[in-house]
Formats: sequence, structure tokens, C-alpha cells
Amino acid sequence: MSVSWGPLSRTVCAVHNCGAMVMVRYAQTAAAPAPAPRIKKFQIYRWDPDTPGDKPRMQTYEVDLNVCGPMVLDALIKIKNEMDPTLTFRRSCREGICGSCAMNINGGNTLACLNKIDTNTSKPTKIYPLPHMYVVKDLVPDMSNFYAQYKSIEPYLKKKDESLEGKDQYYQSVEDRQKLDGLYECILCACCSTSCPSYWWNGDKYLGPAVLMQAYRWMIDSRDEFTEERLSKLQDPFSLYRCHTIMNCTKTCPKGLNPGKAIAEIKKMMATYKEKKTAAA
Ligand code: SF4
Ligand code: SF4
Ligand code: FES
Repeated sequence: MSVSWGPLSRTVCAVHNCGAMVMVRYAQTAAAPAPAPRIKKFQIYRWDPDTPGDKPRMQTYEVDLNVCGPMVLDALIKIKNEMDPTLTFRRSCREGICGSCAMNINGGNTLACLNKIDTNTSKPTKIYPLPHMYVVKDLVPDMSNFYAQYKSIEPYLKKKDESLEGKDQYYQSVEDRQKLDGLYECILCACCSTSCPSYWWNGDKYLGPAVLMQAYRWMIDSRDEFTEERLSKLQDPFSLYRCHTIMNCTKTCPKGLNPGKAIAEIKKMMATYKEKKTAAA
């Protein structure tokens, strides 16, 4: 901070409180020079099905990182608010909870709100929608199939005797509750499923890592009484067995979860279940 003296000015004496008029100079602080702009290029996938003849293309936007928040979602919101209101993407919580801002950033599936902008301004940041999904517009993928698959595993507590529903509490020991750690935290962002090559090619029949991890979460919930029925529904060649343990899913999960391991656990449970069925036959 540099200090200089300002011009002479007349004022009442404040030293002796005598009422005399005196001449004074005040010290002045020079305003800090504005920092040099740090212009970062964002190359973003654009496609609008409502514009006749529009073809998918990349559009480049330039953002000064000095006046932008640190995350990729901050840049997207800035671009939408200040440069191009037609840019379309999903977001809600901006803190890694809702799962709606999942997209492909610089080649990896992740959440835009948890992904820090690469501050190297010599390289553009490239942003695409989640891969191998139908696109609704720009960065918005069509999640219909993903949600239908999630619905198909009946992701809720099921009891054989439904007459007790709403009349009793279903207790769970601390140990049994702990078995759900690392599973219940999934926010269904679909980053894992859309990074899985098996899901790319068989997404209509293979349930994919996100949905299978939730299937497992209910299979091992000590309060649920439909474990065998849940396993039985996955016995066909596609729903579960298209997983080839490539582990892209676990590598990409922005919440640090391990859907690949959950699938391996289902396969083990399935082996035991089949043995039991064969022995009973
Ligand atoms: S481990 Fe299975 S689910 Fe995960 S990426 Fe590989 S094939 Fe897909
Ligand atoms: S396991 Fe991870 S990547 Fe997959 S849907 Fe859940 S939070 Fe997203
Ligand atoms: S905005 Fe909710 S997870 Fe990113």
C-alpha cells in the first residue's frame, strides 16, 4: 500500500481545541491497481432441438477468473447470467447434494459445483453433457431411462406383513445401520453409470452401477424382507452380469463411493442364493 500527502486545506484546529482556523494536509492512500484480467476459455457443447436445423457444436465463452467463483458451476452461472441466457444446464443445491449438475468436464464425469476451475488460462475447459445419454438441450441429458431403472429395483423398505405398516417402528442395530454407510450417500447423479462402457452399449438392459448399488443397499438393509426376491429379479444375463469390473464407475464417483464393490457383493450374494436354490430343488 503506498501513502502520499493530499493538498492543503483549511479546517478548525483539532489539536488544541482553540477554535483557530489552521491549514492541514491529510495522508492519502493510493487505490491498489486493478489486477490483470485472467481470461479463461470455456468450450461448451450446445444443441437446441427447438431451433430447426441446429446441429451440435462447441461454443467458446471467455470468463475473467478474477471476477468469478472458483467452481465450474460458478462459471456456467456467470456465462448464463451475463453473456448468454440461452445456455442450458441443470443445477440446484450448488453443494454436491442434489446431483443435478452432473456433466462431463475435461473428459471426466463429475459435478460442476464440486469441480474447481483449472486456473491454467492457456488451456480451455471443455464441457459436455453426460456421455452416451440422449440430450434434451445443451448440457441437459435425458434421465428418463435412468430413473425408470431406479424405479424398477423398488428402492424402498419392503415387509412381508404390511398390516403393521404405520403402526410400528422397524428397529435396526447400530452395527446393521453401519452396513449402509458408503451406500446411502449416493445422490443418483449418474456420473458412474454414464462412465461405464457396459452401460453405454447396453443401457436399455443393464442396470448400471448407480442403480445396482441402490439395489444392494436395500438387499442388505436388515429391516427389509425381500432380499431373495430382489436377487431373483437380477438373474437374467443383462441386469447385473454386464458388469465386467472395469471400475470406471468407482473412479469417477464425485462422492467417493464404490459402486463397483457393491456390484461385486451382489454377485457373491447371487452365487449363494443360486446354490441355496439348487440345494432346495
Ligand atoms: S465396474 Fe462394472 S459398473 Fe463399474 S464401470 Fe466397470 S463394468 Fe461398469
Ligand atoms: S454412486 Fe456416485 S457417481 Fe454413482 S450415482 Fe451415486 S453419487 Fe453419483
Ligand atoms: S448443483 Fe446440486 S450437486 Fe451440483
